[in-house]
Amino acid sequence: MTVRELILKAKEARKKSYSPYSNFKVGAAVLMKTGKVYTGCNIENASYGATNCAERTAIFSAISDEMSKIDTLALIGSETEFTYPCGICRQVISEFADEETKIIIAKNENEYIEKKLEDIIPGTFTKDDLNK
Ligand code: THU
Repeated sequence: MTVRELILKAKEARKKSYSPYSNFKVGAAVLMKTGKVYTGCNIENASYGATNCAERTAIFSAISDEMSKIDTLALIGSETEFTYPCGICRQVISEFADEETKIIIAKNENEYIEKKLEDIIPGTFTKDDLNK
């Protein structure tokens, strides 16, 4: 699975976005280290805080199927500006990522930025912190 193919899957997932409040559609696709791909979109709620972002939808779908770390996550929101993962999603990504995980922030399948976990959430809170 190439980065381009993963972005196209995120783009396809974005079509399913349920976002009647913000009208901002987001799609995500995660390639797990097992080789399987899971996708997700943002799902909003009349109680705004109950909204689930695309990245979390994709990750929760993956983890509810199999326990694996993320090889690559592709995210696509706006096609004119790069849409970065929100703070809550960065924390959730960190739970299932490692130093090698690639985080692809895409405008489209040809224009994207690649980040590592340390770039988007340095010094993240992990389960190791619970034993300190
Ligand atoms: N959103 C995502 O899906 N992912 C992010 O990382 C940023 C924000 C969604 C949530 C909400 O449905 C809409 O974008 C506007 O905030």
